[in-house]
Amino acid sequence: MKTVITEDYTQMSKAAAEVVAGAVRKKSAVLGLATGTTPIGMYDMLVQMYDRGELSFKNVRTVNLDEYVGISSGDKNSYRAFMNLHLFDRIDIEKENTHLPDGTADDLEAECERYSRLIAELLRDIQVLGLGRNGHIGFNEPGTPFDSTTHVVELSEDTVKANSRLFARESDVPRRAVTMGIAEIMSAHKIIILASGAGKARAVREMIRGEISEKCPASVLRRHGDVTLIADREAANELL
Ligand code: GLP
Repeated sequence: MKTVITEDYTQMSKAAAEVVAGAVRKKSAVLGLATGTTPIGMYDMLVQMYDRGELSFKNVRTVNLDEYVGISSGDKNSYRAFMNLHLFDRIDIEKENTHLPDGTADDLEAECERYSRLIAELLRDIQVLGLGRNGHIGFNEPGTPFDSTTHVVELSEDTVKANSRLFARESDVPRRAVTMGIAEIMSAHKIIILASGAGKARAVREMIRGEISEKCPASVLRRHGDVTLIADREAANELL
């Protein structure tokens, strides 16, 4: 795994945006995208590049990692709403080319199969990842098999707590989500994983220095041939 350590969050976002922009400039790029607070700065920079006329997303297709179960796309807490707010509504992408799992599907198993087929068809040039405090990627919590495909997960208490800051009350945080599986994350051509702040330092160390184990889902990334960790100084603190 390559490691890029930046001075701060802004520099981390800039470095990540440049890598993604490189993919966007290729013909008909497919981007694997992530939610969470970490990539927001990167999305802002991509929007700025678009505003300056440096990038067009007209021919770009996107596939997101995950979505909460039971929250409709119109709900402001849905990951669909997050993506619209931070990126899709601000650029020239065609909405029908943007994909997230449907967490309100009646038959969630069928929805997982549909999403897996979509991921197999849309070969991602790049997959952007955030890192959970417990080492999760997407919503693949510790213990998730490395050969997993899209599935429904029960969120761990840690994750519910960590994500509750974005909801009015902790009790509003959904307890389940649909997530791209680990094998599918690994099938992207290139992966960048972003980490910012001291709260991620332990997970970053575990991912890079710990054993490759299902106890730390992100550790699997060391088996991929083209992964770059882009971390700010605080998140990389335990590596130095
Ligand atoms: C959520 C998302 C992950 C994300 C993680 C970290 O659980 N499902 O994809 O990486 O949170 O979020 P943040 O970037 O807000 O720390």
